Amino acid sequence: MSEHLPLDGKRLVVTGGARGIGAGIVRLALRQGAEVVFSYHRSADRARELCAELRATYPKQQCTALPAQVADTDSAARFAQAALEALGSVDALVNNAGVTRDGVFARMRREDWDEAVETNLGSMFTVTRPLVMALVRRRAGAIVNVTSSVGIHGAPGQANYAASKAGIIGFSKALAKELAELGVRVNAVAPGLIATDMTAGIPPERLEEIKKRIPGRRLGGVEDVAHLVCFLASDRARYITGQVIEVSGGLVH
Ligand SMILES: NC(=O)c1ccc[n+]([C@@H]2O[C@H](COP(=O)([O-])OP(=O)(O)OC[C@H]3O[C@@H](n4cnc5c(N)ncnc54)[C@H](OP(=O)(O)O)[C@@H]3O)[C@@H](O)[C@H]2O)c1
Repeated sequence: MSEHLPLDGKRLVVTGGARGIGAGIVRLALRQGAEVVFSYHRSADRARELCAELRATYPKQQCTALPAQVADTDSAARFAQAALEALGSVDALVNNAGVTRDGVFARMRREDWDEAVETNLGSMFTVTRPLVMALVRRRAGAIVNVTSSVGIHGAPGQANYAASKAGIIGFSKALAKELAELGVRVNAVAPGLIATDMTAGIPPERLEEIKKRIPGRRLGGVEDVAHLVCFLASDRARYITGQVIEVSGGLVH
């Protein structure tokens, strides 16, 4: 393992890599020496642009974008298969893709519940299941699942999102116990409030109110999350499994 490049030669699969936190993870993984396949769903143009930029910067490393609707079992399976073919195998999977479908629970529509749960929690099955044997066969590797502070603490207007993100925590802890003896680590990263498209729509007065509960009074950046994800994906985290780690600037709930 290179002292300077913690992901040197590691093959990473990242879901939702075209923008936001996922794009931050893809960028940092390449910078840290990884070969990366990431998925996009609606952001095909951004995926293409990101790949072009990163291939120009890191010409010796692979950066490939492939389509996947992670809520759909067949689409996710096709993505997983294509990712394995592109990389040869996989050393780390980062389940990052996710959505919010906020609303007060008393008026929540079933489709908003389903979309949040099937995208955020369903993808833990649809993407991880077809890739897990590749990790187990090598008796090495890491899975990093992106949950949320909301999955730990809850938040009004986010019952569907909180349920899906809490589910990711249970899934990660159970899978960590199942795979530990097989050499595969599983951890969850729980961002607080990070500046991306997902948080861009929060009304300014609500944002100010939330900022008062962050000791540093500012939102996090995608790199703040990416550094922890890449660390957990690397061998430097070899004795860390079954953990949920918040990246929230100390956000108080
Ligand atoms: N931002 C925050 O404050 C925050 C806080 C806690 C947790 N998180 C979590 O961090 C992760 C990334 O969030 P973000 O802030 O980067 O959000 P974002 O900017 O809205 O990006 C969402 C990503 O998820 C992908 N995605 C959404 N639905 C998908 C689907 N059905 N199939 C495949 N891909 C899908 C999108 O892909 P396309 O654009 O290609 O469709 C996009 O890459 C999510 O799991 C989110 O819940 C974010």
